[in-house]
Amino acid sequence: MTTPIQNTPSTEPLPEVSDWWTTAISRIRPGEILLRGYPVEQLIGQASFPDMIWLMVRGDLPTRSQSQLLEAALVSSVDHGPQAPSIAASRMAATCGLGLNNVMATGVSLLGDTHGGAGQQCMQLLDDLIQQVGDDGDLDEAAEDIVATHRAQRRHIPGFGHRFHPHDPRRNPLLDLVADASTSGAVPGRALAAGTALERALAKGRSRPVPMNIDGATAIVYSELGFAPELGRGLFVLSRSVGILAHGWEEKSGGTRIKGPIPRRLLPSYNGPAPRDLQPEGTA
Ligand SMILES: CC(C)(COP(=O)(O)OP(=O)(O)OC[C@H]1O[C@@H](n2cnc3c(N)ncnc32)[C@H](O)[C@@H]1OP(=O)(O)O)[C@@H](O)C(=O)NCCC(=O)NCCS
Repeated sequence: MTTPIQNTPSTEPLPEVSDWWTTAISRIRPGEILLRGYPVEQLIGQASFPDMIWLMVRGDLPTRSQSQLLEAALVSSVDHGPQAPSIAASRMAATCGLGLNNVMATGVSLLGDTHGGAGQQCMQLLDDLIQQVGDDGDLDEAAEDIVATHRAQRRHIPGFGHRFHPHDPRRNPLLDLVADASTSGAVPGRALAAGTALERALAKGRSRPVPMNIDGATAIVYSELGFAPELGRGLFVLSRSVGILAHGWEEKSGGTRIKGPIPRRLLPSYNGPAPRDLQPEGTA
């Protein structure tokens, strides 16, 4: 005779099960949603969306000036038009009948080291520069060394240069906010100093300076706020997701079906073999 299986839920939680996803982020129980210890009903209406990002990722609520700086950076990079591959790809995905979740995932999946990754790389560079210089070193000298090394290796400094903005319109407002926050003591100001030192070093001896771009400016903000470089990438993705959603929705609402990367009347250039006949087997 087989013993019947007990289906009654145990009142004693098994530690190896309940500890499987141990988390300090949230506690969810019937009728209770605690986020980093705060009941969600108290956060609703009191915490802004940037506050929530900070709370969830960092563990506690930001000060007002930290939250405002984070918000400014998130606002600045929401969109760069359909010429950005991530936006174009999400619009194409929308015309292929995908749901909005897959439309957004298509765009976000294109954000990698080359497209959308310069912010994280710039944060790492700023961090390295700050560490290298320490309290007494010469920031401008160290920045010039970095630029010289990159030039010798024919590498671009991440966060600088732009295909068509001679001056990125997002640079000044962001840097002005960081400068104000630094003056009031809300942020240390070291990343701002390091970023502008790199900018000066890049401009030295050139008639056409290499402007700081959005990735450089947001890298300064996120570094000043103490985010790890990899989180900088995550924050950029959060911000750009807004543009991806808007563009995906616009394209979906337009009703065009299966839109390719170039207008239909144009054909991609072909540089393969000239047309040739496949010889029947054994006749070659
Ligand atoms: C964005 C980018 C691809 C634009 O490139 P581009 O407009 O084709 O610029 P070019 O590569 O033709 O560079 C023009 C000149 O500026 C220099 N330059 C441009 N960006 C540079 C950078 N980031 N670091 C060092 N020098 C740079 C080039 O060496 C070149 O110098 P030259 O006139 O002496 O030959 C390029 O600046 C880059 O790769 N930047 C780093 C990555 C980055 O921040 N990406 C985010 C963009 S929003």
